[in-house]
Amino acid sequence: MFPEFQSFLASRRQEIAHNEEGEFRETSEPDTSLASAKIMEQLGIARQPGITAHDQLSKWLLAASQAEREEAGLGLPIPASPVHFIPGQYNIYYDFKNTDIALDELQKAGVDIKGTLLDFGCSSGRNLAVLQKAFGEQLDLFGVDPATASIEWVNRHIPGVVAKVSLQEPPLPFDDGMFDLIIAKSIWTHFSEAAGKRWFSEMRRVMKKGGHFLFSVHGPHDIASRIIKDVPLPKYERFAGHEKWTRDTFLLDLVKTYERDGFYFQPFKQVGNQGDLRLIEDAVTDDWGLTFISPEYLRSMLPDDISIIQRSIGRTGNRHDVYVVRRD
Ligand SMILES: C[S@@+](CC[C@H](N)C(=O)[O-])C[C@H]1O[C@@H](n2cnc3c(N)ncnc32)[C@H](O)[C@@H]1O
Repeated sequence: MFPEFQSFLASRRQEIAHNEEGEFRETSEPDTSLASAKIMEQLGIARQPGITAHDQLSKWLLAASQAEREEAGLGLPIPASPVHFIPGQYNIYYDFKNTDIALDELQKAGVDIKGTLLDFGCSSGRNLAVLQKAFGEQLDLFGVDPATASIEWVNRHIPGVVAKVSLQEPPLPFDDGMFDLIIAKSIWTHFSEAAGKRWFSEMRRVMKKGGHFLFSVHGPHDIASRIIKDVPLPKYERFAGHEKWTRDTFLLDLVKTYERDGFYFQPFKQVGNQGDLRLIEDAVTDDWGLTFISPEYLRSMLPDDISIIQRSIGRTGNRHDVYVVRRD
């Protein structure tokens, strides 16, 4: 292994999840399964021991007929292209696992799951649909995304959720102080530094005082996974000017820059090569790519009256660090 990788893994050891033998560990299982357990309770499905609620519910859904799914209020199919959708382990529409993890993190941070909630970069609503089913009575749900087809799909298929097309740049079409809760999963994993800062300020504007914001970033746990497990392997041909990159040249550049600057960003080359931006009319790529942020640097990107109240390593999306912050 390159000495740069060794020293990165050693110096960032506290930020990489290990098992008792000190080996790299995936940490991305929900602890409380808040949404999945609530939905199973609504449906009268008894919890089985030895299996997480999100796994059990996903398997139940896969085995159910379409009529049974519809009767359960879980009848949505995987959206067809051009609507954006990221398949999970079970290849079903509903993202029970990551919604459970997000709710775990909010609960751990002492946040009440109620009021107005915005899913920023909601895609075709796979988390909003789970939130609506489990907590629709106590949450007013909103979503935004610049991909028009995804937003149209959400508005057509998830009654009770208000979805709006946003621009790639602020502002959002919402009043100041509108939201108690904001979630943004796999969004700051893609923003350039300038766009990341602009959007943090915009999140602050639309949050209530005392409101909370949960978002995910690529941090040391994700970098360790790339070094130790080769997961995920980026598609190097997507990066502007770096078509000839190999695993090692990319990782060396990433580790050196991350340790020096606390921030690493590679823009995607062109709109057509990137799954998300391909779907956005007149999309520009300068501010959207692959992004890594250290906790030290993250603080400097946030407005002064936003406090970091919790950071958990390697959570949503299998490897992302998840932050919960509050507007003071
Ligand atoms: C990796 S996906 C994550 C989607 C969703 N949060 C999830 O976890 O399934 C990134 C999403 O960000 C959206 N996006 C791209 N640029 C954006 C921007 N400037 N503001 C908000 N969302 C953006 C894309 O259209 C896409 O739906």
